Amino acid sequence: MTGMICGTGSYVPDNILDNHDIAKLVETSDEWIRERTGVVKRHIIGNETTVSMAAEAGKRALEDAKVDAKDVDMILVSTISSDVILPCAACKVQKILGAERAVCFDLNAACSGFIFAYNTALAYLASGMCRTILVIGSESLSNLINWKDRGTCILFGDGAGAAVVKACEGKNYQIAAHSDGAKGEALTCPGGHVKGWQQMPEEDRYMKMDGRGVFQFAVKRVPEAIREVLEINRLKIADIDYFILHQANRRIVEAVAKRLGVEIEKFPMNLQEYGNTSSASIPILLDELRRSRVLQPGHRIVLAGFGAGLSWGADIIDWKI
Ligand code: UT7
Repeated sequence: MTGMICGTGSYVPDNILDNHDIAKLVETSDEWIRERTGVVKRHIIGNETTVSMAAEAGKRALEDAKVDAKDVDMILVSTISSDVILPCAACKVQKILGAERAVCFDLNAACSGFIFAYNTALAYLASGMCRTILVIGSESLSNLINWKDRGTCILFGDGAGAAVVKACEGKNYQIAAHSDGAKGEALTCPGGHVKGWQQMPEEDRYMKMDGRGVFQFAVKRVPEAIREVLEINRLKIADIDYFILHQANRRIVEAVAKRLGVEIEKFPMNLQEYGNTSSASIPILLDELRRSRVLQPGHRIVLAGFGAGLSWGADIIDWKI
């Protein structure tokens, strides 16, 4: 038994902040941001929240899969930016969708979050413990950003993506998933949860990133993880139609493609429109590729995520819808 994605959905706020808007906040320019990251604009929450975006993306994925919310056995929300610590975002999504039977919990693996949540869903489906799981990545990163820090505020955006994963007979691919907690200081966000946060200087509460360090980690580890997942499943690079990477920086995606010796056309990107939306980036891109019919039944794709933890991983999916 394995899992199959049978519907996708996404939601991004209407409110847009382009590079020129950012250049009014910090010393930067549209040219620098485009050249160094590929980002042109990002969508930023207005009245939305992480939960409301997650619920809307989830609802759209259920509609796409033609699955009734009452038939969902589990809701998994991957997020680092939930509205509150308790209750979890997944329980709030359950209430909005009316998915009464579902067991619900959140998962925090930052930008690898959607992949790790998808892997968790696969494990429940393969064991026979669940038949239908709604996997969501949703982020309001604008709440975690220090809008005075040009090293981070240029990169990130808000949004949500979701996939309905159902149990089915089929090939059970092995996964590649890794963490290196010793390098965790490269990307941190104490938020309002740590002891003594009330006394912390305001800028210390927000996201902090060793951008160059994370960049180097990504361009080394992501190709390694993709090679690993291909090797353990006895596949070759040529067997893959599309490589769908976490949308962090266009230069990272290009460097990964180059290291693997694969043409860049096989690495779809939408970071120019949304920036880096952490655990939402892969499911938003999947949903766009499905709706524009770039993804077709019979395609074999690789998903690869990387980010805070540090954590990274890659999956192989036979696309069937
Ligand atoms: O989601 C997963 C986690 N995050 C990532 O994957 C992010 C990975 N890292 C990156 O994407 C890039 O490192 C950044 C986009 C964050 C930064 O780009 P970079 O090319 O690595 O820049 P840098 O930090 O090496 O800085 C190069 C120069 C510096 O000036 P000097 O020292 O050479 O004079 C910076 O002060 O660019 C300067 N700089 C900027 N200039 C204009 C840094 N940020 C900016 C900026 N605008 N926003």
